[in-house]
Amino acid sequence: MRYIESWTPATIVATRDLTPGIREFLLRPDCVAVESYPVGSHIQIGVTIDGRPQTRCYSLVGEADAQGYRIAVRRAPESRGGSRYLWSLAPGARINITLPISLLQLDWSRRHVCLVAGGIGITPIVGATQALARRGAEITLHYAVRSRDDAAYLNVLETLLGRRLTVYAGDEGHRLDLGTVFAALPQDAMTLFCGPMRMLDAARHAWEAAGRPIADLRYETFGSSGLLPTEAFRVRLKQEGVEVVIPHDRTMLDVLNDAGHEVMSDCRRGECGVCAIDVIDVDGEIDHRDVFFSDRERREGRKICVCVSRARGTITVDTLRRADVI
Ligand SMILES: Cc1cc2nc3c(=O)[nH]c(=O)nc-3n(C[C@H](O)[C@H](O)[C@H](O)COP(=O)(O)OP(=O)(O)OC[C@H]3O[C@@H](n4cnc5c(N)ncnc54)[C@H](O)[C@@H]3O)c2cc1C
Ligand code: FES
Repeated sequence: MRYIESWTPATIVATRDLTPGIREFLLRPDCVAVESYPVGSHIQIGVTIDGRPQTRCYSLVGEADAQGYRIAVRRAPESRGGSRYLWSLAPGARINITLPISLLQLDWSRRHVCLVAGGIGITPIVGATQALARRGAEITLHYAVRSRDDAAYLNVLETLLGRRLTVYAGDEGHRLDLGTVFAALPQDAMTLFCGPMRMLDAARHAWEAAGRPIADLRYETFGSSGLLPTEAFRVRLKQEGVEVVIPHDRTMLDVLNDAGHEVMSDCRRGECGVCAIDVIDVDGEIDHRDVFFSDRERREGRKICVCVSRARGTITVDTLRRADVI
């Protein structure tokens, strides 16, 4: 699959703090009318980090609104700085954005839909809730947050769902048990999930354990959060006989490409597998942050998606022998 992007300049029309750590931005593109877009669409935004241009993806919140595109950005304190950059922008600021891209597909014929969100993963779920509610679907929403103060869009969701919304606030000791949630669903139900990688792994295991078809679990993950801390690691290139250091704030893909070891990429968020290369040896541990490889492939550790995945220690790779994954 190719991820085709059309870029347009845009203006930040308004901002609003939804929680202490989540800020909403209303963006109006130049010269393009804000037309309806599929639920679950996201846009890319050009950000500047340490003087370098980069891009970050943001889900569109809610159904299309003629005023502009609405996004909500969580300020990630321990990060490369894309969210910090956006938080530094005030109304009137000019940015570049893509037109909406839709990769998340819902089966609108389903009567029962279970929605699951973790933290900032609520952003694509708001529009899905609105669209499903309008169609009269039987919806339940399970929303896990650290504390109620961190829960964005609670008013909108409570109005739409009433008692069909359950908030699991960690600081109140209220934990989301996905096994119990999935076991209680009618057989024809599908689930739409958006949350961190660790929670997605739990959802996939619980869904399979409940004997449900994996195609009925649709998910979006915002990528990049792994199981190990984000720290520098070393990559040895077997063919070239060189070793490079991947700093904590850069991806393996960018470092290898900047050093002239060309690695192909497409989605740059761990979904398509285009950037996968062969791993020959691991002195440490790989932190797979993609959603492309199966559990078995991750355990085997013979390939790595260099756009998002990282490691601890030193890994030896072969950039010339691309993994046969596409
Ligand atoms: C389809 C899609 C939709 C998204 N929608 C939203 C949304 O609605 N709202 C929102 O706030 N975010 C969303 N994101 C995430 C967003 O694109 C950014 O990743 C986020 O804002 C953090 O960017 P950052 O540069 O501040 O942090 P990043 O550096 O990208 O850090 C994010 C996390 O990755 C870890 N990390 C730090 N450095 C690295 C590194 N070098 N390599 C890999 N990981 C690292 C950090 O521990 C941190 O927790 C979405 C992502 C995708 C792919
Ligand atoms: S470029 Fe798509 S998984 Fe890395």
